[in-house]
Amino acid sequence: MTSTGSLPPSVPRSPQAEPGRVIISAVARHTDKSTSRFREPPDPRFWRLNRSIDFDRHLAPYDVAQSRAHAKALNRIGVIADDEIKVIDEGLAAIAGELEAGEFAFEPGDEDIHMAVERRLGELIGELAGKLHTGRSRNDQVATDICMAVMDAANGAGERIAAAMRELLRLADAHKDWTMPGYTHLQRAQPVYLGHHLLSWFWMLSRDFDRFAAARRAAAVMPLGAGALAGVNWEIDRRAVAADLGFDSVTVNSLDSTSNRDMVLDYLSAGSICLTHLSRIGSELVIWSSTEFSFCQLSEPFTSGSSIMPQKQNPDSAELLRAKAPRVIGDFTTLLGVLHALPLTYGKDMQEDKEPFFDAVETVEGTLEMTAGIFEGIEFDRERLQAAAGDEMLAATEIADLLVRRGVPFREAHGIVGDLVRQCVAEGRNLSDLNREELAERSAELDDEYYEVLKQGSWLESKRSEGGTSSASLAAQIELAKARLAEIA
Ligand code: ARG
Repeated sequence: MTSTGSLPPSVPRSPQAEPGRVIISAVARHTDKSTSRFREPPDPRFWRLNRSIDFDRHLAPYDVAQSRAHAKALNRIGVIADDEIKVIDEGLAAIAGELEAGEFAFEPGDEDIHMAVERRLGELIGELAGKLHTGRSRNDQVATDICMAVMDAANGAGERIAAAMRELLRLADAHKDWTMPGYTHLQRAQPVYLGHHLLSWFWMLSRDFDRFAAARRAAAVMPLGAGALAGVNWEIDRRAVAADLGFDSVTVNSLDSTSNRDMVLDYLSAGSICLTHLSRIGSELVIWSSTEFSFCQLSEPFTSGSSIMPQKQNPDSAELLRAKAPRVIGDFTTLLGVLHALPLTYGKDMQEDKEPFFDAVETVEGTLEMTAGIFEGIEFDRERLQAAAGDEMLAATEIADLLVRRGVPFREAHGIVGDLVRQCVAEGRNLSDLNREELAERSAELDDEYYEVLKQGSWLESKRSEGGTSSASLAAQIELAKARLAEIA
């Protein structure tokens, strides 16, 4: 997201604006940014970068909600009278309505969302609007908006993760006895059940869910009441405001309140890790859906054709899954860079938290939604998976373990089987093609059970350890996955 809104040539701070120049609103002139202290208007070259309205307008619903809660708190301590609170709240409600309907008219003189809302309130209810900014600063206001936005975004990510996990569990259950090769180094290693592999993705996402939940908790501590940095001169009931706005608690140090952006970092960190996970899933899907592998086929709505080659059905969605992580990591490192070595408390640098955050939210949400969609329609090819899993070389570890059961130390067993494999590869034979004499040459412990072990499938069912791929272990894992989903969704 970039700030592309039309920019005023110059924004005078004084009411005696030159004709043709944008006139900053009465409310804005009386805020800390544009008081009579100034004789000269901001330079357009500064204003263009200083103005955040083109992106912080996303904070509008939070800004209005917190203003309503703040006004009520001021009313409770008598700063806003009973007849006034009604007018102020109705004005803010009207603004919320305009924003929701997309009818709120932003003006070129609006520096940021806080000024825009206050300016509009002034237009709607007159001078009374000026009372709203008692006992708060844009510094605690913007921190509160961003906390509310992070809470929502973290919840939103969690819901989307749960939806993708639900699809994965359904797929895993439907493919719990389909065999496929498991890989290390993208070389066939040991066979596993497809359901087992799909659940490995499920648990990655489950950890992501926890990370977003932690970001939500970090954001659920309300900074409002910290004022510009030192606290405020009014005995506002901060806890009541926090409860009104859905916060769990209030911050304990006003300086930390206005300078803290950890909750945004937490979201960006969770997003970076989550999308890194999705990139690994995307990568596997690209490989698996290639003609060479043909393990799976993405559904048509998640693929696209080629403008020149009619036979093509390209896994663009999986490629995008693969490619989105660096963008969010970039957002994360951008904000780390902004905050790095920044003196406390507020600095305008911190306005640079928003674009990376909003960009990450859009990317995280869109990528997670697409992930669930890919899972909904994906189809696997049982024969292709089975044929690849039937590669006898995948049983090499099993033969080594057979020798271990006969008392041969594992390292020695590894060497014996390595020799067998080398012989087979050199002679273009399968392990089961070796005869009793050839086996005896390598080890006296290799008898008929060698051929038993090589029978396909037996080496999957022997993986009975907790978390292993055997049907029994996998059935237990599916139950755990169901319980996990019930807990989070
Ligand atoms: N637009 C500003 C931001 O996003 C709001 C806070 C401005 N505070 C100030 N002291 N100028 O950070």
